Amino acid sequence: MRDLTSDTITPAVISTVRGTKDPRLAEILESLVRHLHDFVRDVELTEEEWAAGVDFLTRTGLTCTPTRQEFILLSDVLGVTMLVDALSNRRSAKATQNSVLGPYFRQDRPQYADGADISGGLPGTPLFFEGRVVNGDGAPVPGAGVDVWHSDADGHYDMEVPGQEDPAMRALLRTDESGDFAFRSIRPASYPIPGDGPVGELMSATSRSLMRPAHVHLLIEAPGFQRVTTMLFPSDDLYLDTDPVFGVKQSLVETYETHEAGEGPCSGQTDEPYTLLRRTFVLEPLPAR
Ligand code: BEZ
Ligand code: FE
Repeated sequence: MRDLTSDTITPAVISTVRGTKDPRLAEILESLVRHLHDFVRDVELTEEEWAAGVDFLTRTGLTCTPTRQEFILLSDVLGVTMLVDALSNRRSAKATQNSVLGPYFRQDRPQYADGADISGGLPGTPLFFEGRVVNGDGAPVPGAGVDVWHSDADGHYDMEVPGQEDPAMRALLRTDESGDFAFRSIRPASYPIPGDGPVGELMSATSRSLMRPAHVHLLIEAPGFQRVTTMLFPSDDLYLDTDPVFGVKQSLVETYETHEAGEGPCSGQTDEPYTLLRRTFVLEPLPAR
């Protein structure tokens, strides 16, 4: 392996991964080298551009902390997260589709009884959510774990709300014998993805909006079924077609109904107009082993 040229260096590098014991790792490395070298040749990457790329990736790593993952955000805005999801979770047309998990899920979420108010007392338009979890035949899935989390009326998650120490606008619920679950909270708003790091620079250099459409996140798990990591977007949101993380699917766009003050669902009385969101989630069985 001497005197390699821009034409001969690729097979030379690929030959060095041939000894990889794990065949899947060998396949991934070979393809990675091939695509990476083709990319460098394709754009005729200069030394300055190579250095800028190294600097960008270095700063992306340095921006990561235990509570911030700039590499996943980079994957999100480059569409890689949703691409991997699409390849890993091919579901039937009637099954509920996935979206991105995002960085705001918390393990330390409280468990709540059916119909509870999970807002933590934060201000906003009351939101009543009535959900049902079923299998592909429409039969209820009792005992499913349903995680929900969402932003407040200013687009902030609980950890971003000044003075908010305790978890709020998030809960772990469980479906009842009919596959139903319900909660009360406040209506979420659209919000920007973090723009103060290298991903923000990329977004600004490419004139892309940071704004995600408003949504309620849900993560549904039940034995024997594929986990569903999803979210529901209001049909009238301004940012549905420019989501920076490519998470919007038409099947996840819902009518957030507006109702006058009065008796809401979950026996909740409100003296102001409220939003009602109803949705059935269809789980796909785990593939047979
Ligand atoms: C979110 O929906 O919480 C989110 C997803 C991806 C990147 C940033 C935020
Ligand atoms: Fe979110």
